[in-house]
Amino acid sequence: MGETATTHSTAAHRAEELREELRRHEHLYYVLDAPEITDAAYDALMNELKRIEADHPELLSPDSPTQRVGGKPAEGFKKVHHSRPMLSLDNAYSTEELADWDRRVHELAGNLPVEYTAELKMDGLSVALRYEPAAGGGARLVSGITRGDGQIGEDVTSNIRTIRSVPLSVSAEKLQNAGLPQAFEVRGEAVMPEAAFLRLNEEREQQGLTLAVNPRNAAAGTLRTLEPSIVAQRRLDVYAYFLLIDGEFWPQGQSATLDALTAIGFRVNPHRGRVHSVDDMAKFIEDAEARRAKLGYEIDGVVLKVDAYRTQQRLGYTGRAPRWAIAYKFTAKSGITQLNDILITVGRTGKLTPTAMLTPVFIGGATVSRATLHNADFIERMGLLIGDWVKVERGGDVIPKVAEVVEDAEHPRGTRKFSYPSECPECHNPVVRVEGEVDYRCVNVDCPAKLRESLLHFGSRGVMNIEGLGDAVVQQLLDRGMVHSVADLYDLTEEQLTGLDRFAKKSAQALIAEIQGSKNAGLARVVMGLGIRFVGERTAELLAEEFGSMDALAAATAEELERVEEVGPRISQSILEFFSQAANLALIERLKAAGADMTAEKRQRSEQLAGLTFVLTGTLPTLTRDEAKQKIEAAGGKTAGSVSKKTSYVVAGEEAGSKLEKALELNIPVLDEAGLLALLNSSA
Ligand code: IVH
Repeated sequence: MGETATTHSTAAHRAEELREELRRHEHLYYVLDAPEITDAAYDALMNELKRIEADHPELLSPDSPTQRVGGKPAEGFKKVHHSRPMLSLDNAYSTEELADWDRRVHELAGNLPVEYTAELKMDGLSVALRYEPAAGGGARLVSGITRGDGQIGEDVTSNIRTIRSVPLSVSAEKLQNAGLPQAFEVRGEAVMPEAAFLRLNEEREQQGLTLAVNPRNAAAGTLRTLEPSIVAQRRLDVYAYFLLIDGEFWPQGQSATLDALTAIGFRVNPHRGRVHSVDDMAKFIEDAEARRAKLGYEIDGVVLKVDAYRTQQRLGYTGRAPRWAIAYKFTAKSGITQLNDILITVGRTGKLTPTAMLTPVFIGGATVSRATLHNADFIERMGLLIGDWVKVERGGDVIPKVAEVVEDAEHPRGTRKFSYPSECPECHNPVVRVEGEVDYRCVNVDCPAKLRESLLHFGSRGVMNIEGLGDAVVQQLLDRGMVHSVADLYDLTEEQLTGLDRFAKKSAQALIAEIQGSKNAGLARVVMGLGIRFVGERTAELLAEEFGSMDALAAATAEELERVEEVGPRISQSILEFFSQAANLALIERLKAAGADMTAEKRQRSEQLAGLTFVLTGTLPTLTRDEAKQKIEAAGGKTAGSVSKKTSYVVAGEEAGSKLEKALELNIPVLDEAGLLALLNSSA
């Protein structure tokens, strides 16, 4: 046996060992919330596996833990028929309604057993995950589909694959122990955890984008994002609750279903129980409400399901929902208070945001004195008057919102109509509304509000990180005419700062040191600091890695920009627009003159596929033949039209014909699209 064969088999063995180990740690971390090793130790294992797969591309498999983000941006999503309709649930809003339902269930069930499984009703969106037989007796994830209209959903597989609590494969052993076949479908709820939601909105705020209203909308938007790498960063979770085989529910009943899903590695909500009576239901609900604030994700109620499959079948379905299940919905935490005023603030990008100024009211454990009003349309639609009494709602940790106007004998309507300003509240220049956008903007480049917000953004923690450059200091610098652009920060002297309120020599020295120190923050931070629309932290980092210097970035064409992961036409246009403005170029020159470091380590383009020849056959799920060819060639590989002994890989899609047969005959490794993309990614 030659040497290559030996190293190959050692590598194959080690790779499999690492995969097993990584899968176990992912399950511990993402499903059980009980990690055994540190993040750094996990990364080390992952890196070792990536290295082996890069050195031995033939060992790659699409269900390897390295392959969660293998998909390329989709051009749109394929529509897919559900194996069985994804129905909805009837709602109950009180224990009386639950008692009515319980009575009906007993009537219809006749002599069949009636016992219920109680689960939390997670506030996300339902998804269907299909698994099919994999080599070795296990199963692998083949598609992830949104609910859509219940009959037809959208194929968002490459996005679903990035969700760490969704197993990419299930081993033969686990399936056997659970008594499950190799093909099955899991349904569950995709949610965005609160922490991820807050982080997302922080980022959107920094980028001058409209904030996501709640985690459910954010999760839905994320799953329909065309760039899987963005989905990967958002950290969605899937909680499984149904198991189907050949389009039929698994006949062991709901409680056993949840156990089986847990056993084969899915995240199943641990807060569940078996209940027998309306009293039990009420207890479970009370308990859920008590836990609600501490769960870390949003729930909007409790779902009760008849446990036994036979009873479920006897009860059957109405047009839109099973008779054997019901959703008890929590009433939103709300309070009534008076609207005293509407405050309009101007952001860094000039966006005007309306906030309701309220008489303080205590709602669900917190005092609320401000609530979001979203935008001008929202105020208009509600016909809101200053002085109105309004119902304010608070769900979880989310920003309170004005839900409706209250009008009765005790709560008369307000008196003053609010007219949305036609001019900027800070600089009094006219505001504009870009066609197709809901927001009004101040477009005056010299608007002091924009300058103030830009300075605050520039100094903020994720950007140039200038500690001490807060609201009060910035306002004074502006009032005294000491800065007119972010570049002026670098000319500030200790003497100037000592003149500010509550600034002694020591604090002045400290701030100067912080400002001067920020010059070393590096290219990515400066790019972020410039506040280019749509360019947040990750995009700035990728741009810095790709171009290595501000000059190279400023000179990049749309095509070059779009070569960067995550940069599509919208972002590239915004970058080009930014660098086309003389004022922006002048600002960059001044920052450079002040000594700001505008370089970054450039990522080396790898020639990973050099010497390898690929043959493409069949239709790939997302890439066209040309795109696949381009990608291979960009990484240094060659493509050929026919399969021979010299062929390194055959990339086969649907309806691959004789070339695939030939490959199998000659024992040439065959990749699917995910495998090809994985190979390309492993060279990065
Ligand atoms: S069972 C026949 N169980 O609530 C459909 N749904 O209002 C029954 N949901 O579309 C679904 N948590 O998106 C079920 N533990 C749970 C749930 C749950 C959240 C969602 C799901 C469904 C909606 C119905």
